Amino acid sequence: MRIHDPKIIGKLAEMNVALQHAAALAELTSLGIGGTTDLLRIKKHESLPDLLSLLDTNQIPHKFLGGGSNLLVGDGELPWAILQLVRPEPDVILDGNLAHVDGAADLGRMITFCAKNDLGGMEGLIGVPGTVGGALRMNAGAYGMQIGSYVREVKLYRAASRKVEVLRSHQISFEYRHTSFAPDDMMLSVILELPSKSFRVILEGIRICNEKRRSSQPLGQKSAGCIFKNPPGASAGRMIDELGLKGLSVGDARISDRHANFFVNAGHASAKDMLALIADVRERVQKSFGVSLENEVVVWNA
Ligand code: EPU
Repeated sequence: MRIHDPKIIGKLAEMNVALQHAAALAELTSLGIGGTTDLLRIKKHESLPDLLSLLDTNQIPHKFLGGGSNLLVGDGELPWAILQLVRPEPDVILDGNLAHVDGAADLGRMITFCAKNDLGGMEGLIGVPGTVGGALRMNAGAYGMQIGSYVREVKLYRAASRKVEVLRSHQISFEYRHTSFAPDDMMLSVILELPSKSFRVILEGIRICNEKRRSSQPLGQKSAGCIFKNPPGASAGRMIDELGLKGLSVGDARISDRHANFFVNAGHASAKDMLALIADVRERVQKSFGVSLENEVVVWNA
């Protein structure tokens, strides 16, 4: 998707939206896969309703990108413009046990910042890459905790009402890797209510989780975390491992030797390779276990 019209480009500039032509999604996603398209970087939340109305009027399809860490994007020229929030400084403001966090804040840095101020609870999420907005949308979780448990309220751009709205926690449902947000809602900021804990105690929790993660997940490699959700009462990784599929590859898309639910880009994998590998594994698991695995990774394919 290319935005050429000088009138639209002028309006974007008025709205303080930075336009980058032909941005490579491979450079904006942790899998290192994805074609090119125009990227719109939003500096002010308030400009969103006008920006979205400009895009709608001019029939420019678009998608919201967070940190790109749970995302598989298609190859080649992409048919949508990509919208991304610019991270403000500061991106976390503390007020007692409340953390006011921008959607574009880095999840790990936010957890560490809160820890240094004796606010804990999210130790399990250390090492999960991505933005706070992305973590919220998916209700990111690990080691028995999930971000949704700490949400007091969320400010978001709601695609349905085309307005910026604030939702209190009881108006949102947070389930296993799923929330009641619509796919085209954009998370702008969140207020988290975190338990007081000493930095020393939080640090010990973080150390334990880091160790577990390092010993079981391929952290140094390009991946999108787990590819499939765990079906109720079972582990997708264990099933794929039991089928002896570690190391299976299509082109440079490869099942990690360390954790069978992590599919890595071992070089120059294309989306086509990765999707073929995902489809192959889903079919084999279905055949052997009678279980239909659901994607955990979000796929943007034209
Ligand atoms: N297992 C294997 N072989 C493998 C991988 C796992 O036998 O290749 C076994 C393990 O030995 C263990 C069981 O399967 O007995 C579960 O494995 P693990 O503890 O690694 O947890 P998981 O269910 O595979 C989930 C989340 C991870 C999260 C970890 C830790 C999902 C889909 N995955 O993995 O989240 O980090 O627990 O809490 O829910 C993600 O969301 O992207 C992600 C990586």
